[in-house]
Amino acid sequence: MSKPRVLVACVVFAQVLDKLRQHFEVEAIAEGEVWHQDEFARRLAGKQGAYITGGHRVDAALLARCPELKIVANMSVGYNNLDVPAMTAAGVVGTNTPDVLTETTADFGFALLMAAARRMLESEKFLRAGQWKRWRYDMFAGCEIHGSTLGILGMGRIGQAIAQRGAYGFGMEVIYHNRRPLDPATENLCKASYVGMDALLARSDHLVLVLPYTPDAHHIVGGAELSRMKPTATLVNIGRGGLVDEDALAAALKAGRLAAAGLDVFEGEPRVNPALLELPNVVLTPHIASATVPTRLAMAQLAADNLIAFFGGQGALTPVN
Ligand code: DGY
Repeated sequence: MSKPRVLVACVVFAQVLDKLRQHFEVEAIAEGEVWHQDEFARRLAGKQGAYITGGHRVDAALLARCPELKIVANMSVGYNNLDVPAMTAAGVVGTNTPDVLTETTADFGFALLMAAARRMLESEKFLRAGQWKRWRYDMFAGCEIHGSTLGILGMGRIGQAIAQRGAYGFGMEVIYHNRRPLDPATENLCKASYVGMDALLARSDHLVLVLPYTPDAHHIVGGAELSRMKPTATLVNIGRGGLVDEDALAAALKAGRLAAAGLDVFEGEPRVNPALLELPNVVLTPHIASATVPTRLAMAQLAADNLIAFFGGQGALTPVN
């Protein structure tokens, strides 16, 4: 019996590619190669499976060109790159990689919060530039972390893991806003209190965005929301770039209406808004919140296992539709 044909559209661990080759007839992107959408669609035509990351878009136009496609395995927990209703209508299963990255991503969210609030990168740059001539009482004085109020917008698995770091590790008061409040036992575990959006903005000393991106959440933090935050506050985004109006954020940071920001995700990445690049009080990282070797390997393997289980007749392990 011939093996199902799978397109691996992202560079991935050699051992994962080897495993995929044992089960499938694989066409894989080569190191250094870039496939834009048209090339991606052209190569996917005639394949039954796709192995992709969050940077690939699967929409109705692509699906129309790939009538044999049965499953798209996304090596990412967020799946805003998948048009799920269009996939469902076309009979194509989508999968993501939940759970395996929760703690690692929460670690990074906290690191970004601390780096921004305690001005670590700004001060390191100053030191490396040889500008450190003497110690001053106010040199890179930042914002307090322990005992402050941690706000979390989007209280899924990663939000809950961040809440626990703040509450147990740093004695923070944790408040959150979500579509729905958590059940009392989970709230208790996270030592977190549900508040409305207004209170979240007004009371947070550090606000972390970790909600999934949907059209409804587009620019959920824009100029109006930023103006309701404390001028001493820190904003951290490890969700998706489209959650924040980056022009409004850059203006607020520049004007001192917000103390600092830490951003791991950007609207239109890998392009970064030039207004952000000029500012000292924002820490910018290239979408690496889940990037430890064990976690990225676990994500890569889960995406592969979704394809293997699906074509093996067991059904996908972590379907999103
Ligand atoms: C995720 O898994 O959603 C991360 O943002 C990496 O894409």
